[in-house]
Amino acid sequence: MTVGNGGERGAMAQSGGHVKTERGSYVRTVVTLDGPAASGKSSVARRVAGRLGVPFVSSGLLYRAATWLVEDLRGDADDEGAVLGILAERHVRLVPSLTGDRILVEGRDVTGELHTDAVDGAVSAVACHPGVRDWVAERLREIPGSFVIDGRDMGTAVFPDARFKFFLTAPAEVRARRRVGERSADLKAVAEAIARRDRLDAAQSAPAHDAVHVETGDLTLEQVVDRVMQALSGVGAV
Ligand code: DC
Repeated sequence: MTVGNGGERGAMAQSGGHVKTERGSYVRTVVTLDGPAASGKSSVARRVAGRLGVPFVSSGLLYRAATWLVEDLRGDADDEGAVLGILAERHVRLVPSLTGDRILVEGRDVTGELHTDAVDGAVSAVACHPGVRDWVAERLREIPGSFVIDGRDMGTAVFPDARFKFFLTAPAEVRARRRVGERSADLKAVAEAIARRDRLDAAQSAPAHDAVHVETGDLTLEQVVDRVMQALSGVGAV
């Protein structure tokens, strides 16, 4: 795991989510949590952010917002030019906060409309376009201050210099069971939808070489959060 330059290792003191280096200066902390669909990363990231006292950012919300817009305007999710045209015309803003980030489209809060089966079904097609990935990365890199962020490629493509990186995994059937609990849907259909998303998202879902891997299959949510917090404290981040 990479924690900035070696001189800062073990000598960090948390201060409002910022980290004090040995030389006394404060730098922002970005904690990345990547992993496949329904690996629990959002729930873990939200709790870790709460314990650190910094906002939690879900990068998937921006991909979901782009997909929501394409569906709303009856665009073609497979046509990158058309998708980018829509994104250029509409103002999409991610507002991070300690109580959960929100997505505003032309000023309207659409966060509650982003976790539907329709968005789930089309989001991978939208997210695989390189131009869309650049659009999301640009918005994420504009976020100021310290935060915990979840996604697929936060520790690799978007924040390769993040100080603390985690990669959460869980067997596909465990993830399907967790999702069924969340949305009261049919287990077989959910398992198939997750397997499909795993396939479609595979290209951008490789773990960072310096990420700490946490296999969450046999752990409760709180146990996973504890593991992450222990790893952070092991490198002096908290
Ligand atoms: O994390 P999530 O389920 O809300 O993400 C929704 C979709 O967005 C997911 O199927 C893949 C895509 N995504 C991505 O490609 N890269 C990210 N960093 C986050 C999400």
